[in-house]
Amino acid sequence: MSSPLKLARRPRRLRRNAAIREMVHEVRLAASDLIAPLFVHDGDAPAAPVGSMPGVFRLNIPDLVAEARQLADVGVRGIALFPVTPPKLKDPLGREALNPECLVLRAVAALKAERLPLVVFTDIALDPYTTHGHDGVLTADGSDVDNDVTVDVLARMAVLHAAAGVDFVAPSDMMDGRIGAIRGALDDAGHVHTGILAYSAKFASAYYGPFREAVGSKAAAGTASLDKRTYQLNPANVREAMADAMLDEAEGADALMVKPAGPYLDIIVELRRRTLLPVAAYQVSGEYAQLHAAAERGWLDLERCRDESLLAIKRAGADWILTYFAKDVARALA
Ligand code: PBG
Repeated sequence: MSSPLKLARRPRRLRRNAAIREMVHEVRLAASDLIAPLFVHDGDAPAAPVGSMPGVFRLNIPDLVAEARQLADVGVRGIALFPVTPPKLKDPLGREALNPECLVLRAVAALKAERLPLVVFTDIALDPYTTHGHDGVLTADGSDVDNDVTVDVLARMAVLHAAAGVDFVAPSDMMDGRIGAIRGALDDAGHVHTGILAYSAKFASAYYGPFREAVGSKAAAGTASLDKRTYQLNPANVREAMADAMLDEAEGADALMVKPAGPYLDIIVELRRRTLLPVAAYQVSGEYAQLHAAAERGWLDLERCRDESLLAIKRAGADWILTYFAKDVARALA
């Protein structure tokens, strides 16, 4: 046997057995970190699977309420609602967004009536309601989203959501000045306790594809892929993302979000360093789909990769994680 190396430090001492490894374990995921995104469709249509997202369904309101109860039972504390609007209710202005009887508001009312220990988030953006699939109203020549007109609509939309009882509105539109406008409108209407989770660093990402299929915003836009680069961030830009997020904080956001999550861990780290607010990260539809696709082929272990992907997002500094894996992970943790 060769003589041992004279090493002052042997890092492997801290990895020798399961008990030691448990004691030096640094970051842990908890069910209460998770926010489950849920798709809701109208009427009594049965649960409709989303093709590229195994295990994800568009649910009618009673099924949504049942799903919410199951999530609460396994310790998830947040749900984020996304309505699937029938094409006949879409128009270029997204008027359905301001209908007090619209699907998402009826869903909120049904959920709130259950008094579940859940924090309800709703998306503030016009893409579920517009025929073109953009997050706002277009300019007269149709070449771009009109920032200020859109912000005015979003502020009114946020007030309706607050009145329906949502805990946090989550503007995902990336218009300039929308956080300040929404905060002002909420306060003027007396909704001082309704929070704002700002999608602050939302990148123009190709990872949203399966979501657009789920809510039908891609079909609305036709075959051309939806180009949101005049409002969503360039995936190359860290500083620009921070500048935008700092504006959201200054305008009154209660929490800031990075989206997507896994490919943008550096953005989460950087935002965590710069704000004292909770940081959320959205593990988006494409991140979910790619793990499932590889697992279906037997190329990756779904559960282990799922857990590792979420742990990495938490380790980077996210306090809240929006993930389509929420229920499965919370169950596994229970
Ligand atoms: C749109 C919105 C999108 C997502 C959440 N809100 C898509 C988009 O910007 O086109 C994507 C979520 C996901 O991919 O899981 N307001």
